[in-house]
Amino acid sequence: MKKAIIVIPTYNERGNIKPLIDSIITTTSNIPNWEIGILVVDSSSPDGTLIEVKELQSKYPNVHIIETKKEGLGKAYISGFTYAIEHLNPYVLFEMDADLSHNPKYIPSFLQKIEKGADFVIGSRYIKGGSIPSNWGFHRKLFSVCANLFVRLGFMRLSTSDWTGGFRAIKVWVVKSALTHVSSYSGYVFQVALLDFATNKKAAISEVPIQFIDRTAGESKINSIQYIIQTFLYVLTHSSFIKFVITGFIGFGIDFTFAYLFISFFHIVKTTANMLSAEVAIISNFFINNFWSFRHKKIEGGVFGYVKKFILFNVVSSGSIVIQGGGLALLLHFFGDRLISLGFISIPSWIIYKILIIACVIIPYSYILYNKVIWKK
Ligand code: GDD
Ligand code: MN
Repeated sequence: MKKAIIVIPTYNERGNIKPLIDSIITTTSNIPNWEIGILVVDSSSPDGTLIEVKELQSKYPNVHIIETKKEGLGKAYISGFTYAIEHLNPYVLFEMDADLSHNPKYIPSFLQKIEKGADFVIGSRYIKGGSIPSNWGFHRKLFSVCANLFVRLGFMRLSTSDWTGGFRAIKVWVVKSALTHVSSYSGYVFQVALLDFATNKKAAISEVPIQFIDRTAGESKINSIQYIIQTFLYVLTHSSFIKFVITGFIGFGIDFTFAYLFISFFHIVKTTANMLSAEVAIISNFFINNFWSFRHKKIEGGVFGYVKKFILFNVVSSGSIVIQGGGLALLLHFFGDRLISLGFISIPSWIIYKILIIACVIIPYSYILYNKVIWKK
């Protein structure tokens, strides 16, 4: 028998916790090879959530409780995981919401994935068979979809579809190795941090579809603004993306500096000087990206590997020059070559067009190709 502990954080879930535990016990009492325990992590809910849980404990001996201060969802999970590891001897730890948004009927399918070798099973709302509530307003749906897309693209890990959800089954070795990393993330961003860490640790990630049900009792504790900012910052600081953008700026500086040097000091013809300076920038970007931005995917295969990737890098870079030229020609043709007034100053329209092309086309184009062609794993 292997043991799975379902960790359920609660804050003011008095109307939900009893039906949830009843339903977990009924759906999991007969899963072959698995013994199920429940650990409620309550942050001293003023509504008396724990009164309900304590009543259930006399009926179900496998229901455990810990009480914590109210320090956010991430901190509640960290306390729960730590307690379970120290006292309950689990093989797998589950994350699950208390508000009946996560239906216990899916628990057996999570465990099947674990038995087939997965280390980290995600209940996904964004794969076939999964869903977000149809009664959610347009904004909430859009927000949920965009947040996940942002994380997927920011990390360039397209194969995982639900980064933010909170219904998961995780092998204990993954949780143990992640505890130090995630301890800095006390809020909802904890979910992204944990999955990011597990992916970096090469945990086998697997997804099962779940239909997320909107809660009917109590209310959500999520602070959307804080959550958006923290997730945004997490992805920026933990993906290659921000380094890639900084490298782009350095390249820009190198291109200008060398063009200036070649023209003013070596008296090289302007067009030739600019082609040379562009190539200097391409060479330096290639190395900065390889040894910094994409360090974790450094090019292998000796000199031959480098030559091959360097040629490809030049092809991709030429592509951006063509896109910039073509894009600028199109925008100038359709929107005109004029001065655009920004209140206090007027800027030639081509500068605005160039910035737009770089931000909206060149950056995604290069980032995707660097990841998928040059620094692919
Ligand atoms: N102990 C404790 N302490 N529990 C908390 C705290 C806290 O500070 N904050 C929230 N919880 C509990 C709630 O009581 C609930 O059981 C669960 O955590 C989820 O909280 P909700 O407030 O219902 O969150 P949600 O429905 O908005 O968020 C869901 O979707 C998010 C984004 O996809 C959850 O599944 C999140 O985990 C997920 O990140
Ligand atoms: Mn909820």
